[in-house]
Amino acid sequence: MKNAEKYKKSYFLPPSQSKYMKWANRDYVAQPPVWCSVDLRDGNQALIVPMSFKEKLDFFQFLVKIGFKEIEIGFPAANQTEFDFCRALIEQNLIPDDVTVQVLTQSREHIIKKTFEALKGVKNAVVHLYNSTSVAQREQVFKKSKQEIIDIAVSGAELIKESAIKYNGNFRYEYSPESFTGTEPEFALEICNEVIKVWQPSPGNKVIINLPGTVEVSLPHVYASQIEYMCENLQNRENIIVSLHPHNDRGCAVADTELGLLAGADRVEGTLFGNGERTGNADIITLALNMYSHGVNPGLDFTNIPEISRVYENLTDMKINARHPYCGELVFAAFSGSHQDAITKGLAWREETKTAEAGWSVPYLPIDPKDIGRQYDGDIIRINSQSGKGGISFLLKNKYGMDLPAKLREQVGYAVKDASDKLHKELQPDEIYNVFRDSFVNLNNPLKYIESNYENVKSEIKAFIKVKIKDKERVLTGSGNGRLDAVSDALRRNLNIKYSLTNYSEHALEIGSKSQAISYVEIKDADGKVSWGAGLDTDIVTSSVYALFSALNRSGLIK
Ligand code: KIV
Ligand code: ZN
Repeated sequence: MKNAEKYKKSYFLPPSQSKYMKWANRDYVAQPPVWCSVDLRDGNQALIVPMSFKEKLDFFQFLVKIGFKEIEIGFPAANQTEFDFCRALIEQNLIPDDVTVQVLTQSREHIIKKTFEALKGVKNAVVHLYNSTSVAQREQVFKKSKQEIIDIAVSGAELIKESAIKYNGNFRYEYSPESFTGTEPEFALEICNEVIKVWQPSPGNKVIINLPGTVEVSLPHVYASQIEYMCENLQNRENIIVSLHPHNDRGCAVADTELGLLAGADRVEGTLFGNGERTGNADIITLALNMYSHGVNPGLDFTNIPEISRVYENLTDMKINARHPYCGELVFAAFSGSHQDAITKGLAWREETKTAEAGWSVPYLPIDPKDIGRQYDGDIIRINSQSGKGGISFLLKNKYGMDLPAKLREQVGYAVKDASDKLHKELQPDEIYNVFRDSFVNLNNPLKYIESNYENVKSEIKAFIKVKIKDKERVLTGSGNGRLDAVSDALRRNLNIKYSLTNYSEHALEIGSKSQAISYVEIKDADGKVSWGAGLDTDIVTSSVYALFSALNRSGLIK
């Protein structure tokens, strides 16, 4: 990168910047801002193929459902589709009474006129005026002095005020010094104050001053100081709603917005998933869920992120990145064994201790994925060759109701990791179940269980057990103080093998086949080698016999 000297800083600090850093003493956004979605304008105008009329209508209703009360619907004077869209919303009565639509306009007479025609009959609207104020735009594009740029803003503001009087409807005004982040803060303040003078905001008619990071050119803390400077020096501040509109050129639009809110802003313009010009706008979902993770209700409904993602992708034809905060396919996924283990233990701890009042603190999960419609199995615990016993047993328990003893989990973990490693792919829950079943459950080779009968003889049980070994059927006899014990005795005695039965447990299967029981058996041979097996059957004793046969078949003792 030899050409770094080509780039000079293109942002401006507020005068005596250190005065405007009070935001640094605040550590979280304590209350939600007024949210304004600009998906239908800034978002839509950045799509390769802008949304059709029908898609825009669907998107509008989708935003209403999420809970937005302010929605920028477009630039009605820009073209017929935008104009017609605005008219359709109004004429078909599609705007709920508690929703304000916002429209964008330049400071030109015929455009402002057309904008008000588009708004005829609207109940509540924000008319959003903008003109570009940055040094680069003033010098290179408009070739105008600061005063001439102020005149553009003031004449537009006057015209909007006059037009609003001629039309019925509750009109509010918004002004954006476009390219604010490339503008000297003193000049941005001056031009905003000139517009404020024209609009004369009052408690019943507040004015929105929107401070866009049209291009993100500085670190977020610089933007925050610029915002604090504006908040402290705007005239009639109590009747001004300071709004943020960061773009994401340096990848920090969310940070800009959060620090801008700490610096005193009241309102945020952004989009779902950060769609928008170039690298996009501030992502309202991330902002809202960041707030949520600090215990603040953002006032928007993101309880079903998978559904919101589907609708968004369908309507915009954009793809959500797998690592997109809160929403991406992989953002809650834990493949690593130690992470899975910590998550499994954290969830169990929460369940056992019922520490709801202590707040959410499960390791590796910044929020409870269930709060936004994601699942623990499938979304969080995902299995590949990096995974471990914790995650694998979590899935077997949650999806198949199999509560494996701790020592067996380790062996199943190795088998599953090995399968994933060999296949070089992630394993789905049914594939994990198949590995467990094929490697541990009801194994019948080389020793096959066929049937058994039992008799009570005095205080003992006698077992007659029919098996197949090396293609030959045999009935083996043994005795013990329980049925499994008697079967084990028959096997040891007749097959001339030495082992002890060191662990046994069983439980009914609560998920799926309700009438089945699963047993787990551990045996230890004369050299101390441990083998596990599992058995599945409708009869609990038979399941335990299957488990013993499985353990023996895995042990290598049967020749
Ligand atoms: O990014 C921007 O500056 C804009 C303005 C029109 C507010 O979208
Ligand atoms: Zn923008």
